[in-house]
Amino acid sequence: MIIAQITDFHVGRIIQTEQGPVDLHDRMLEAVAHIKKMTPQPDLLMVSGDLSNHGNEADYIRVREALQQLQMPIYIIPGNHDRRSRLRQIFADHDYWPQEGFIHYVLEEYPLRIIGLDTLAYGEHYGLLCQERLAWVDARLKEAPERPSLIFMHHPPFKTGLPYPDRLMCRNGDAFGDIVARYPQIQAIICGHVHRDVVTYWRGVPAYVTGSATFANGLILYPVDDVDPLFEPPTGRLFVWENGRLTSHISFIGSYIYGLSEGVPKAPRDP
Ligand SMILES: [Fe+2]
Ligand SMILES: [Fe+2]
Repeated sequence: MIIAQITDFHVGRIIQTEQGPVDLHDRMLEAVAHIKKMTPQPDLLMVSGDLSNHGNEADYIRVREALQQLQMPIYIIPGNHDRRSRLRQIFADHDYWPQEGFIHYVLEEYPLRIIGLDTLAYGEHYGLLCQERLAWVDARLKEAPERPSLIFMHHPPFKTGLPYPDRLMCRNGDAFGDIVARYPQIQAIICGHVHRDVVTYWRGVPAYVTGSATFANGLILYPVDDVDPLFEPPTGRLFVWENGRLTSHISFIGSYIYGLSEGVPKAPRDP
């Protein structure tokens, strides 16, 4: 079984660079074309949040039209730039999620059981797993201990070592970690949001953060107020489940646009 993940399109944003404007809609189209060319085709595609930059109807329609080129089943979880109501409106045929409330769900029809979590804290860029959502995921894990499972969530519940995204991580991550540690069927926790690739081991589980399919944030290991969008090669990720073992591969998308848009933030200096 092959699962593809692409994340953080931010369609609607146009980034000014020294080489001219980069329309992230164009880069999203490249990402979809990239998935379309994969051989063999993935069994499913997970789009892990921040589909649009502003939650606009028109931008979601552009994402929907692009994804319609793909033949495989497509699943979505919300990110901090998404609106639940708009996702439900524009992706009205996505019947795997509840019709109201949090956009979290379980996919039972695959060899790996897939749990999609909703870490959206409305009006905030950080994420949240409130008591209701923690109880929901605990119950889902408790009901199928024999089923190897993946958890997808937009905001990482753990620190990445990058101070800027770590400020905006999923709150209540420790409480979630206490749940995760109780369920050995979890094969991986898979996130987006950081716009960089990160791999770690957390609460007994491999954990992946997949970079954005449209633009990166720099590898900035010191505190900054904001980060400069950076055009490293965009990526998606594959997860291959074979003989009871999960293997992951980064896949670079399209061509590499060289250059920074607004300069590199300066490192702090001692006075
Ligand atoms: Fe994002
Ligand atoms: Fe995000």
